[in-house]
Amino acid sequence: MSSKPVALVLLAAGQGSRMNSNLPKVLHQIGAAPLAVHALRAASTLEPEKSVVVTGHGAEMVETTLSKHDDELIFVRQTEQNGTAHAVDQARAALDGFTGDVVVLYGDTPFVSGETLQSMVDARETADVVVLGFNAKDPGRYGRLIINGTSLDAIVEAKDATPEQLAMTLCNSGVVMCAAQTMFELIADVKNENASEEYYLTDIIGLARARDLTAVAVTCDEAETLGINTRLELAAAEAAFQARKRTEALEDGVSLASPESTFFAYDTVLGRDAVIGPNVVFGPDVTVESGAEIKAFSHLEGCHVSQGAVVGPFARLRPGAELEEGAKVGNFVEIKNATLAEGAKVNHLSYVGDAHVGAGANVGAGTITCNYDGVFKHRTVIGAGAFIGSNTLLVAPVEVGAEAMTGSGTVVTEDVPDGDLALSRVRQTNKTGLARKLMQMLRAKKMKKDA
Ligand code: UD1
Ligand code: CA
Repeated sequence: MSSKPVALVLLAAGQGSRMNSNLPKVLHQIGAAPLAVHALRAASTLEPEKSVVVTGHGAEMVETTLSKHDDELIFVRQTEQNGTAHAVDQARAALDGFTGDVVVLYGDTPFVSGETLQSMVDARETADVVVLGFNAKDPGRYGRLIINGTSLDAIVEAKDATPEQLAMTLCNSGVVMCAAQTMFELIADVKNENASEEYYLTDIIGLARARDLTAVAVTCDEAETLGINTRLELAAAEAAFQARKRTEALEDGVSLASPESTFFAYDTVLGRDAVIGPNVVFGPDVTVESGAEIKAFSHLEGCHVSQGAVVGPFARLRPGAELEEGAKVGNFVEIKNATLAEGAKVNHLSYVGDAHVGAGANVGAGTITCNYDGVFKHRTVIGAGAFIGSNTLLVAPVEVGAEAMTGSGTVVTEDVPDGDLALSRVRQTNKTGLARKLMQMLRAKKMKKDA
C-alpha cells in the first residue's frame, strides 16, 4: 500500500488518427475492455483518492464509456492538444488542495502493471520525482532518460536530441510520479520552445533538478509500456494479452485443451481444474468455478457457472445466466438472464431467457421461452423436477409447477399446477392408405407433364 494518498491523472485526449477510426483511440478494446480501462485498473491498485481523466477528441464518448466502469472519475477537457504538460495542467483545478502524490498515466498504454506502479511509490520514499523508464529494443522516437550516477537529470525528446543522446536506449514510458504541488509548480514553468512547439511534461525533470529536487528512474519490461497507435499495434497487443492470460490460466490449474484458441476478457475468472475445450470465447464478467466444464465452440459473457456444471459444445451464455451446481447446457442452447438450479438440464436447441428453471428440471429439445412481446420482457418459472416436452413454447409470463409436465409441441399460455400434465396440441388422426394414394397421384401428374 502507498504511504501517501495518490491521485491519478490519465491522459486520454489524443485523437489517435493513425487508428483510422471514428472511435476515440482510448476506447479501442483489448480483452473486451477499452485501453483506458486497463490503465485505470492498474492505477486502482494504488487506491487513488481522486482519478482525473483528461479528455479531448471524442470527449463525450470517452466520458460516457469510462464512467460506466468507474462512476467516481473526474473528467476535465483539453480542447487543444498542446502537449503532455498542458494536458496534465488541465487537472490543476480538480486537484486544488490535494496534498498527496500525483501519478500520470496514458490512456493508450494498457499494460503498465500494479507492481510496477508500486515500485514507483517505493522509489518516491527517497526521491522527489520518479519516472518509469524501459530499455527499448528500438528507441526510435521515444524520449531518452539522461542518467548521471543514480540521478535522472533530464528527459530529452527524440526530436530535440543530439546524436549521442539518440544512441541511448533507456527511454521514457511517460509514467511519472511526484507530489501534486511539485507537479503543478513545475508545469507552470514549462515552455514550448522545442521542435514540436508543445508543452512537454518531460521538461519537468530538468526543471526539478534546477531546483535541487531529486529525480530517479524506475525501470520495467518494455512490454508493459507498449503504447497503441495503430490497428496493427492493437492486434499485436491483443495477442500479447491473450498469451499472458492463457499462461496465467494454465499456471492457475485450469485445463485448456487448446490454449491458442481460448479467448479471455480482462476480468475472466476460471477456477482450478475448470476444463475448457477448444475455441471458447469469454466476454466480460464471466466466472467459471472449479471443476466446471466448458466444451468446444461456446461463447460466454456476464455469467456464472458453478462446480460440476457442463456447458456446450456450441452453447451461448449471455448476461445474467446463472448455472448452479451440476446444471447442464447442451449444444445450440442460448441462456439469458436465467437461473438453472442444481442439476437442471437444457440439453439441445433451446432458448431460455428471463427464467428460473428449478432443481433437476429437464427442458426438452427445441424449447423456447417466448419472453418478449415486442415491448416488454416477461418471466418464465419452471418448478423443481418439472419435465418440459420437446418443442414446447412457454409464452411468458407463465409458470410450470414442480414435477409438472408439458407434452411435446405444447404452447403453454396458462400456468400449469404442480404435478399436472399440460397438452395443447391437436389430436392425431390417421387416414388409411391416404399417403400412398396421394403419392401415386402426384407421380402420375409429373409423368404427364414430362411427356
Ligand atoms: C511521450 C513522451 C516521450 C515518451 C513517450 C512514450 C512527452 C513530451 N513525450 O511522447 O518522452 O517516450 O510519450 O510513449 O511527454 N496527450 C494528451 N494531450 C496532449 C498531448 C498528448 O492527452 O496535448 C496524450 C496522448 O493522447 C497520449 C499521451 O498523452 O496518450 C502521450 O502523448 P504523445 O503525443 O503520444 O507523446 P509522444 O510523442 O509519444
Ligand atoms: Ca505516443
